[in-house]
Amino acid sequence: MKIIGGPSSQTLACRVAAEMNILPTVSEFTRFPDDEQYLKISEPIEGEDVVLIQSTATDSDWIMLLQMIDACASAKSIRVVIPYMGYARQDQVFKSGEAVSARAMAKTLTGVDSVWTMNIHKKHTLNHFACPAMDLDASPLIAKYILDLKLNRPLLVAPDKGVEKMVRDMASGLDLECDVFDKTRLSGDTVSIQEKKMDIVGRDVILMDDMIATGGTMAESVKILRTNHAGNVYVACIHPVLARNAVLRLANSGVKDIMATDTLEKIQSRISVAPVIAAELKKLKK
Ligand code: R5P
Repeated sequence: MKIIGGPSSQTLACRVAAEMNILPTVSEFTRFPDDEQYLKISEPIEGEDVVLIQSTATDSDWIMLLQMIDACASAKSIRVVIPYMGYARQDQVFKSGEAVSARAMAKTLTGVDSVWTMNIHKKHTLNHFACPAMDLDASPLIAKYILDLKLNRPLLVAPDKGVEKMVRDMASGLDLECDVFDKTRLSGDTVSIQEKKMDIVGRDVILMDDMIATGGTMAESVKILRTNHAGNVYVACIHPVLARNAVLRLANSGVKDIMATDTLEKIQSRISVAPVIAAELKKLKK
């Protein structure tokens, strides 16, 4: 088996390879003078089972993933792991005339034996891949991390109904209380969160979402919790997109800490999803 990390998931690929007790395969990624991307996999992969790991937060990341797949055309099998799949939030037509971006992107992956995503925004997107696709769940890793923090009467809160099930499952696994806010999106980076009576005075609260993009959802939620005299307020997510000034917005809202996984490699990505990916790879070997 060859573990090949793309530029956006180098550290994660190394961690998965370490879990599998193999060395990661080296690739070269550079750009031509006109800025087009260039990829060369530095080891022979003919007849090998290859695992390509590349998050697709940017258009360039997606193009690199297509190049990685193409470079592995002579492999025995190609498994693509997309820890964070960009464009997945436009998973349906919200307004007439729109593209279903998640479908458009999924359809570009050809010549692949299987795709694994991680906490993809909506599971039905998996049906748009031409090959078998499976979504892995990193939320138990975050749950364990939260448990180890030894917080004061912690309460887990979902900032909107879209992640309610994931957060309720985490809470029940930890034997913690859980609540959910009602969110209305006003624009790409602004939301309104409805005030709600909760038993939070002096308690530590963890807001948990699938991703933090502009930070608007979390910043508004944190403000409400702090106005209502919560103790320390933490935010946690699977995918730390942290676009634009999200980190500053969150700090300004009074958040104590930002906890995230390495599906996107940021300074906040302290919880590695490598064990989840490796566990699935080990099942294939049996
Ligand atoms: C939305 O459905 C997602 O679960 C997140 O709540 C959202 O993507 C967060 O975006 P932002 O950080 O820009 O508010």
